[in-house]
Amino acid sequence: MWSHCAFIAGVFLLLLSDRRVASEDPETWWSIGQEELRETLRTVRNVNKAKNVVVFVGDGMGVTTVTAARILQGQLKGASGEEGYLYFEKFPHTGLLKAYSNNMQVSESSASGTALFSGQKVNSDTVGLSSKATPKQCRGSQEFSIDGLLQWAQANGKSTGAVTTTRVTHSTPAGLYAHCANEDWEADTDIPSSEQDGHCKDVATQLVETSPGNRLDVLMGGGWTKFLPNVPNAVDGPTMKSGCRADGRNLIEEWLAEKRRRGGNHSFVDSRESLLQVDPKTDSLLGLFSAGAMNPKLGRAESSTEPELKEMAVKAVEILAKNPNGYFLMVEGGLIDDSHHRGLAARALHETIAFAETVQAVDAITNSNDTLLIVVADHSHALIFTGYQKRGTSILGFGSRKLTDQKPFTSLLYLSGKGSSGDVPRRNISADNTTAPDYQQQAFLPTPWAMHLGEDVPIFAKGPWSHLFVGVHEQHYVAHAINYAACLRNDTLTSCDSNDITA
Ligand SMILES: *[C@@H]1O[C@H](CO)[C@@H](O)[C@H](O)[C@H]1NC(C)=O
Ligand SMILES: *[C@@H]1O[C@H](CO)[C@@H](O)[C@H](O)[C@H]1NC(C)=O
Ligand SMILES: *[C@@H]1O[C@H](CO)[C@@H](O)[C@H](O)[C@H]1NC(C)=O
Ligand SMILES: *[C@@H]1O[C@H](CO)[C@@H](O)[C@H](O)[C@H]1NC(C)=O
Ligand SMILES: *[C@@H]1O[C@H](CO)[C@@H](O)[C@H](O)[C@H]1NC(C)=O
Ligand SMILES: [Zn+2]
Repeated sequence: MWSHCAFIAGVFLLLLSDRRVASEDPETWWSIGQEELRETLRTVRNVNKAKNVVVFVGDGMGVTTVTAARILQGQLKGASGEEGYLYFEKFPHTGLLKAYSNNMQVSESSASGTALFSGQKVNSDTVGLSSKATPKQCRGSQEFSIDGLLQWAQANGKSTGAVTTTRVTHSTPAGLYAHCANEDWEADTDIPSSEQDGHCKDVATQLVETSPGNRLDVLMGGGWTKFLPNVPNAVDGPTMKSGCRADGRNLIEEWLAEKRRRGGNHSFVDSRESLLQVDPKTDSLLGLFSAGAMNPKLGRAESSTEPELKEMAVKAVEILAKNPNGYFLMVEGGLIDDSHHRGLAARALHETIAFAETVQAVDAITNSNDTLLIVVADHSHALIFTGYQKRGTSILGFGSRKLTDQKPFTSLLYLSGKGSSGDVPRRNISADNTTAPDYQQQAFLPTPWAMHLGEDVPIFAKGPWSHLFVGVHEQHYVAHAINYAACLRNDTLTSCDSNDITA
């Protein structure tokens, strides 16, 4: 399959050495269609038990983001761009998910993450609580706690891990292990005093104190401030780690102490260098590389001590794969969403490309006979791609239609966000450097922070039972299909049951 892709890419590189005249002859288009057909016909159903499961979540990675990132990926290699694929787009099975939440048409990461990981739609802004919980109301919320893939995997003796480029207590990872009426209650100081009735624990405390969070074998990302006490006058830097906690607790120390109690090896790392040195034989690993979310790949300082998402994911797999019972790992490209919220398309696309490279790196060190890989977006985002420009036009450049206001526009725009001029006529952007890393594309609706879109989101799958992920489904179907493929719960139908309905 890949030799064919390399061949096609080679053909395109030859044909497209002059990007302005991107065009193929009829025979080339015909043979590409034939080759894609042969590739699809070679797909065989894999009905092995999924010993290992890796769920990659592209936060806010809607279809437009995938299309634009694919084009940018090709253009960065000198190709026209449209003809390529992000690595996971070549997975054999693809479907669409309906991403609305229990109470909202347009969803967000906490309800979406909970749906993906626990198999139930829940209310927006809540994490790990059923649809009966009232958002932002602590009192009584704990009785609505629900479990999910992390608990089910742990109950089967599997190792578990989570890796993200955002804070490890942020909505998507929190959806794996926390139970909280408000996704924003990541540290004690995030909970308003009116809701601090002694019943609601902040997300970081839950992670360290309660199962399944405290049984995670690997956890990496940003956000150390949520784990550390506030030290007055501390200068925050790579080594001086002051936090935002008022309860005086150092949850990193507590995490390490808990692992010591359980015996076995454990490490805490806070830089790329120390991460790369971790011996995969270690039993558990906590990595916190930044005070808040990690820095986006584009424009990151040369001096940055943060690892790449790919490096975190590969280390996580190496550690988790030692378990003969298998593992469950969640890998989040968390800054795709953050970049879109800021209206910075170049950043979002570079994050998406890095996310795809992470999927490729994990696929390279796992075996699709026993490892189910799923790539999914939790919700879509405000990015729009339009303009009738010629093939090979820079995806970060200008559209070519004449607009009624006679002013130029970029091929990528945002539906909402800071790039909007409100009721004032649109700014003339003809002198803008639209390919600059921090260029903010124009937007239609004026909001300080671009809004998610409510359209369906894509899902791509490879490995055991990946054919369950085709068609249009509810978002929370994903946890049900993973449970089926990996035989996690003993009280529902799974692929391991002898009276399997598919038999
Ligand atoms: C089913 O799984 C639950 C939770 O892991 C466990 O407590 C129970 O013993 C299991 N039951 C059987 C029959 O294996
Ligand atoms: C700890 O890890 C080292 C390798 O880094 C290994 O040799 C040793 O056996 C491990 N010890 C335990 C208790 O797991
Ligand atoms: C996957 O399983 C098939 C059939 O058992 C086997 O022929 C193939 O070598 C396996 N592939 C890998 C990468 O282990
Ligand atoms: C936009 O600016 C460019 C260059 O500054 C100018 O040539 C063009 O006429 C302007 N268009 C409008 C509609 O103002
Ligand atoms: C525009 O930005 C790109 C990307 O940063 C840079 O390479 C280029 O030199 C800039 N062009 C101008 C005219 O500043
Ligand atoms: Zn968002």
